[in-house]
Amino acid sequence: MMSLAEQIAVVTGGSRGIGRGICLALARQGATVVAAARDAAKLNDLVEEARSSEAAGRIVARTLDVADRAAIDPFVENVIAEFKKIDILVNNAGITRDGLLMSMEDAQFDEVIETNLRSVFGLTRAVSRYMVRARYGRIVNITSVAGVVGNAGQANYAASKAGVIGFTKSVAKELARRNITCNAIAPGFISTDMTDVLNDKIKEGVKTLIPCQRFGEPADIAAAVAFLAAPDARYITGQVLAVDGGLSM
Ligand code: NAI
Repeated sequence: MMSLAEQIAVVTGGSRGIGRGICLALARQGATVVAAARDAAKLNDLVEEARSSEAAGRIVARTLDVADRAAIDPFVENVIAEFKKIDILVNNAGITRDGLLMSMEDAQFDEVIETNLRSVFGLTRAVSRYMVRARYGRIVNITSVAGVVGNAGQANYAASKAGVIGFTKSVAKELARRNITCNAIAPGFISTDMTDVLNDKIKEGVKTLIPCQRFGEPADIAAAVAFLAAPDARYITGQVLAVDGGLSM
């Protein structure tokens, strides 16, 4: 069954990793997915992959740097002009700039907050105006287990992700009566370029802490996004769903 037929979804950071998995999962459920990335040309294979797979929907690539404040409103207006509505917003784009607190530069902190948190505010504000008018919406924010339990070397990242959680709950309370839900997903360790940079010793150490005894795959997160983005998830809002193989329990 195609739970997202005729729906329009916007996914930030769709070019690789978790965002790519989310785009494909939503397209398989029948949605038209606007994959937003800094270099839309790089998304060509993803667009082709959806076209040549069993996906009932389609993926279209559009350019957006989420850290460029001035670009956000025009991006959303262009999507509305082209597709008439946005049913689903997935705020997935994110970066790390790890370092211990005492040596962390201002720029390292600011860049992470701008990309991981401020962009979520800007996009959600812009998209919610249209969702409120439509009296329908599903917002899914990708946070992190680090935002719940903290992580040494990631004070900037954990602060941005904890901010996303507070933001998610507040927006959920504001918009619930308009039939708009807002939830967060907190991935644990997922195999992507972001975690590839960790050395093997750290990876093996982390695996021993995960009850499922493996890193997750982008598809594991994408399945949870597709669930929360569906019309049937209408009575779930303001939640933080850990998808982490049991790591944080
Ligand atoms: P990734 O580094 O593979 O992909 C991040 C995506 O965000 C890329 O497509 C990148 O181009 C995009 N992006 C970054 N800055 C952007 C900007 N300014 N404008 C537009 N797009 C931008 O990372 P991954 O692992 O796929 O991460 C996706 C999300 O999941 C992030 O928010 C990350 O914090 C979160 N996450 C990942 C975990 C993991 O273990 N991989 C664990 C917990 C959370």
